[in-house]
Amino acid sequence: MTKKILLATEKAFAKPAVDGITKVFADAKYELIKLENYTEHADFVTAIKTVDGVIIRSDKANSDVINAAENLKIIVRAGAGFDNIDLEACTAKEITAMNTPGQNSNAVAELALGMMVYLARNGYNGKSGTELRGKKVGIHAYGNVGYYVAQIAKGFGMEVYAFDPFVPAEKMEKDGIKKVEDVKELYKTCEYISLHLPKTKDTVNSINYDLLSLMPEGACLINTARKEVVCEDSLMKIFNERKDFRFGTDVAGDKDEEMKQFAPRYFATPKKMGAQTEEANINAGVAAANQIVNFFEKGDITFKVNK
Ligand code: 3PG
Repeated sequence: MTKKILLATEKAFAKPAVDGITKVFADAKYELIKLENYTEHADFVTAIKTVDGVIIRSDKANSDVINAAENLKIIVRAGAGFDNIDLEACTAKEITAMNTPGQNSNAVAELALGMMVYLARNGYNGKSGTELRGKKVGIHAYGNVGYYVAQIAKGFGMEVYAFDPFVPAEKMEKDGIKKVEDVKELYKTCEYISLHLPKTKDTVNSINYDLLSLMPEGACLINTARKEVVCEDSLMKIFNERKDFRFGTDVAGDKDEEMKQFAPRYFATPKKMGAQTEEANINAGVAAANQIVNFFEKGDITFKVNK
């Protein structure tokens, strides 16, 4: 029997990406059902009921979604972070959960550097700003996005440092950047810090006053990761204490409205858009579609993230 696949994207992919996904499933003779730009979580719960596979982005695949699925065998998060999927619920129902690591990383990295320029130039308000050349940038968690941030930052003439206990110094040296062994050292050393941590129970609120207060004069924090990793009370305290502190985020927190008083030292994209480029949509979306076909046709479980 032909497989039924759902594309559930609250924030829709660009058309060429949807065309690419459509082609992969048409070639495999699978049926594709699209639920794009939906506004009610209940619509996702209803749509997942009868499908065999699903592609999502940051869509919340919590237990009510997973438990509503009667035939689901695979869920693929077209992107990196899978903190939006209830992995335990998937495992309990023997559903394979995957991500598509690396596919949208360059898009996120370009936005991180774009926000650095925006903040260095005072939100383009015409007043004299500063340059990135010669400044030190610290990458907090050196994965796929961190790698691209490092490469682009080097193009700007920045000195690049990274903290990541899971990545060996040799790899960082090969990439032309310096490994910092102690996270506090990273914050002490770098005017610019770019966050690329996943959201886990250990990272929530981990970017706190103790770390931020170590940053040198002209401090600029960029968050294109998850809002929960930054402690908002700490941010508020720092903004009030230091007139030089700047913060740019693609994942605005709950205090976004209040933070706007600090503009142009504060900037938040109106909607999370780090991965929102045609190229990233095509890369991640088509990779997700191929992973689903390879899973059903070949039993391929590369990129499985649950037990
Ligand atoms: C990711 O984890 O891949 C990014 O945060 C992008 O998320 P998005 O697909 O919802 O834009």
